[in-house]
Amino acid sequence: MNDFLSCHSLRVSVIGAGNVGRTLTQRIAEKNLADVVLLDIIEGLPQGIALDLMAAQGIELHDSLVIGTNRYEDTANSDIVVITAGRPRTPGLSRDDLLAINAKIVVNSAKEAIKYSPNAIFLVITNPLDVMTYLVWKATGLPPHQVMGMAGVLDSSRLQSFISLELGISSANITALVLGGHGDLMLPLPRYCTVNGVPITELLDQATIDRLVERTRNGGAEIVKLLQTGGAYYAPASSACLMIEAILRDQSRLLPAAAYLSGEYGLNDIFIGVPCLLGCRGVKQILEVSLTEAEKMSLHISANSVRKNVELALESVGMK
Ligand code: NAD
Ligand code: LAC
Repeated sequence: MNDFLSCHSLRVSVIGAGNVGRTLTQRIAEKNLADVVLLDIIEGLPQGIALDLMAAQGIELHDSLVIGTNRYEDTANSDIVVITAGRPRTPGLSRDDLLAINAKIVVNSAKEAIKYSPNAIFLVITNPLDVMTYLVWKATGLPPHQVMGMAGVLDSSRLQSFISLELGISSANITALVLGGHGDLMLPLPRYCTVNGVPITELLDQATIDRLVERTRNGGAEIVKLLQTGGAYYAPASSACLMIEAILRDQSRLLPAAAYLSGEYGLNDIFIGVPCLLGCRGVKQILEVSLTEAEKMSLHISANSVRKNVELALESVGMK
């Protein structure tokens, strides 16, 4: 199966050919970032999606090869393994509610994938994100800098879009920053959101900022309520693709990612959203931005919630 994947090209394996996985595969291929191996447990699903995406190769003018498979052997020698396998949210289900179901799926996927790609960087997307990222780190046994979770880029891009809509200014002029766990306790930081360097606190009143922050916090649930059958996947796929590009092209991009903390922000032995420099070996550096006492408190409350769920998840997969 791998014979036509050129041995010198970069390779990303995407585990889970659902809404996020297939959209991310399309983004990676059409940006010409790497060959993609798309894997799922459903027979035929990844193969059909790959065939369909390859039919557009001549139109979209890229050289990325996409193959679909149900066998981990075909993911061998991946530079990056992305884990999107698992249940998505549906109305009434919080990300934390997915914990026990997705813990088993994610641990199995990680253990299988690492067998064939022992040096890969793992990018986790499955929810509850921070908890699943910790499980993947444990299951692969990789150095912490080679494991990270995608959520902060998504949450920050949501806040960026809400600020853009509020001000009527292009998102290209807006930077936004959301840290912490990917859930109701996430930590949007208006102080670090700017319009061409001008803090939004100088452009919007506090009530408006509070409203945009709240909408960001509920960004996932708002889409789940509208779609009814699942969660967001276009912006999540774009967010993951931005991280993948930063890694494959060794860009030293400063992006929020769920990374392993060993004392940064006063936190230890946890994966949670913080500003990271991303490059060819994964998380090159974690940046400690200054936080007010209230912001520090919020980050630690978020971390405590993540840590509680990590304990539950480890127990549910017998890794305690
Ligand atoms: P989906 O249901 O569309 O796709 C999930 C896919 O995983 C399905 O195709 C399913 O067959 C596959 N799968 C299930 N068990 C598997 C296994 N053991 N091995 C391989 N594949 C398996 O869901 P989705 O919308 O793509 O979301 C996937 C996950 O990503 C969910 O947990 C969702 O909550 C999460 N998510 C996270 C973020 C984030 O910001 N971190 C954003 C969007 C979605
Ligand atoms: C979201 C969920 C799916 O933020 O994590 O859209």
